[in-house]
Amino acid sequence: MNQPNLLIARRVFPSTMERLTPHFQIHANEADVIRPRDEFIALAAQADALFISGGERIDRALLDQCPRVRMIATGTVGFNHIDLAACAERGIIVSNTPDVLNDATADMAWALLMAAARRITEVERWLRDGKWDRWAFDQLLGREVFGATLGVIGMGRIGSAVAHRARGFEMPVIYHNRNRAADEGGATWRPLNDLLAEADFVVLLTPYTPATHHLIGAEQLALMKRTAVLVNIARGGVVDDAALIQALRDGVIFSAGLDVYENEPALHPGFLELSNVVLAPHLGSATLSARQGMANLAADNLVAWAAGAPLPSPVKT
Ligand code: DGY
Repeated sequence: MNQPNLLIARRVFPSTMERLTPHFQIHANEADVIRPRDEFIALAAQADALFISGGERIDRALLDQCPRVRMIATGTVGFNHIDLAACAERGIIVSNTPDVLNDATADMAWALLMAAARRITEVERWLRDGKWDRWAFDQLLGREVFGATLGVIGMGRIGSAVAHRARGFEMPVIYHNRNRAADEGGATWRPLNDLLAEADFVVLLTPYTPATHHLIGAEQLALMKRTAVLVNIARGGVVDDAALIQALRDGVIFSAGLDVYENEPALHPGFLELSNVVLAPHLGSATLSARQGMANLAADNLVAWAAGAPLPSPVKT
């Protein structure tokens, strides 16, 4: 029997290839070339299944040119780069990689929170620049984390992992989800504006959808405490980057820790001029075990599809 053709958009781990090789005719990308969209589409048009990352946009225009495609596995938990309605219309099955990255991403949210609270990247630059000539009582002061109020916007699996870690810091936790749910593991639901006004640390973990586009803009930032810290480890576009830059410049909030941006990997140049923002290049899930877990779960979905078996983590289309 002919094996299905699989296009793997980006380089994956050897253990991932080992899972896939017995089941597919594979077009891999060992050199990890970022292909122009038309080249990617030309390759995808030959494929029955696609193994993509968050960098490949799967929209109607692409699907119209790739009628062979029956299955799309994204090696990410987020799937805002895939037009699910267009996939559903064509009977295309989609899978993602939930859970395997929860702890890595929650750890990174905390790394950004702590770094933004205590100005870690700013003070390191200051030290490296040879500016440290004395100790002083009022030098480079940051914000206290222990006992402060943590606000989580988007209390899903990763949000819960972030909130769980706050217990060690004896932090009251408040959260906002669009649909009010029961209070979660000691976290108390608040309307969005109340959460913004009350929290000392606001961590964003919502998916990016039309409803969450610019969920945090100038108006919302103005509700936050001047001493507050904002962490975005969700998706670019949930925050209005231009508004955040203005707020950081004007001292509307104390600082921000960011892992994601509008138009990434291009960065709004305004961020680079600010000292009160900690910038990471979309590394929330970047530990070996999480990234292997993601790639291997995507592969397991593909193998299950090829075998006609139920998928471990399908996305509802
Ligand atoms: C995801 O899985 O959606 C992440 O953003 C990729 O690291």
